[in-house]
Amino acid sequence: MTPPAAEERQLHLNAFLMNAGHHDAAWRHPLSTPERATDLAYWRDLVRTAERGRLDSVFLADGLALWGQVRYNALGGFEPLTLLSALAGATEHVGLIATVSTTFNEPFHTARAFASLDHLSGGRAGWNIVTSGTVNEARNFNQDEHLDHALRYRRAAEFVDVATKLWDSWEDDARLVDRERGLYADGEKVRPIDHAGDWFRVQGPLNVPRSPQGYPLLVQAGSSEDGKEFAARYAEAVFTAQQTLADAQAFYGDLKARLAHHGRTPDALLVLPGICPVIGGTEAEAQALLEELTELQVPEYGLAQLSGMVGVDLTGLPLDGPLPQLPEERDINGNRSRFALVAELAQREGLTLRQLIARLGGGRGHRVYAGTPEQIADQLQEWFEQGAADGFNIMPPILPTGLADFVDQVVPILQSRGLFRTEYTGRTLRDHYGLPRPANQFTRVRSAV
Ligand SMILES: Cc1cc2nc3c(=O)[nH]c(=O)nc-3n(C[C@H](O)[C@H](O)[C@H](O)COP(=O)(O)O)c2cc1C
Repeated sequence: MTPPAAEERQLHLNAFLMNAGHHDAAWRHPLSTPERATDLAYWRDLVRTAERGRLDSVFLADGLALWGQVRYNALGGFEPLTLLSALAGATEHVGLIATVSTTFNEPFHTARAFASLDHLSGGRAGWNIVTSGTVNEARNFNQDEHLDHALRYRRAAEFVDVATKLWDSWEDDARLVDRERGLYADGEKVRPIDHAGDWFRVQGPLNVPRSPQGYPLLVQAGSSEDGKEFAARYAEAVFTAQQTLADAQAFYGDLKARLAHHGRTPDALLVLPGICPVIGGTEAEAQALLEELTELQVPEYGLAQLSGMVGVDLTGLPLDGPLPQLPEERDINGNRSRFALVAELAQREGLTLRQLIARLGGGRGHRVYAGTPEQIADQLQEWFEQGAADGFNIMPPILPTGLADFVDQVVPILQSRGLFRTEYTGRTLRDHYGLPRPANQFTRVRSAV
């Protein structure tokens, strides 16, 4: 397939929101307001800022345990679907992407909740499908050990199959609302799904009519071998952490090439690497802000976070020494791709633990780039035009200021270069991402008979 001409192709931008910002010391910086993490008005302002910038979507990550050491960081807060449901009423255009785990939920609950959010928001729901990476989550769900990595992905595949069947268990025109004849719905068009598989038995139908988008936008973020296969089969947008242009190009090419095996075209899936943009009026100012944040880091926090990423307890090791011997990637039962990224980064640049903690402070392995708005726009454009990205997951180091700076200073440059929309042209999240509304699998089957 010939790629679309550069002037036709548009960037897609998602704002990844986190309590005080993405830098692990953001909460200590005077520009952040961590005490507002459970204040609805704070989140309303953030999503309205994203909407002012005409961003495609906002995104909330989630874990089913208190991740990391709350003693040293502003962790914990709202459950994403609950918060996004409240924010649906405060916005009109911006997409709302919530993380829900396939390992610790049931497809019926999940399909129901996303169909509800899609109705509530007029077609702006997205689902970041995760398999969950930590044993602490398993321990909140009656288990001592975390389900094996490969099994988690198998369960995830069946989970999404069941969810899509449930969303399709109502045809689009199932509701008749025929007061005369006393018929609310066409019984032929609201049907059980009678799913019986390895992980789930679900009769259906769903108790929510088919929603404006049919399905929420399906997003995924695992980059291991199993994660990429899963993405190639199901995902329509993929978040990924990539440190270098070469790595991002390799990932992009690899993922797009896998789509054909699943009967999909390269434009059916958008790749969105993360970037933590540290913005300054001059390059020196941006560097100074990054250094200020690094100075505020609590080493104990960084060490604990790094221990989790590399699967080794690093407590007590000298900060100015190297990483110890690490396990093999195949022996990691958590986040495999992040393990590989961190191990490679440390080795490639010969970093000490202290340096590694500083490098991971801004984006936990996502790319951190400090520069002027112009330089940041150049970076985004380069990756976009060099086959590394269809858009970006924007991870402001400090909130709320980092998002406002991006929207007010970087977005206008991208717009003036013809790379990004100046107005929303569609209504739904799928419209923003240029992705089709999925046909109903059961309607298709019937009309084919
Ligand atoms: C941008 C981004 C956001 C993510 N958000 C979450 C999240 O909210 N919850 C979660 O459990 N995992 C999250 N992950 C982790 C992935 O979903 C996935 O579980 C992880 O990358 C491990 O998969 P892998 O072993 O296939 O790489 C995120 C990853 C990325 C790159």
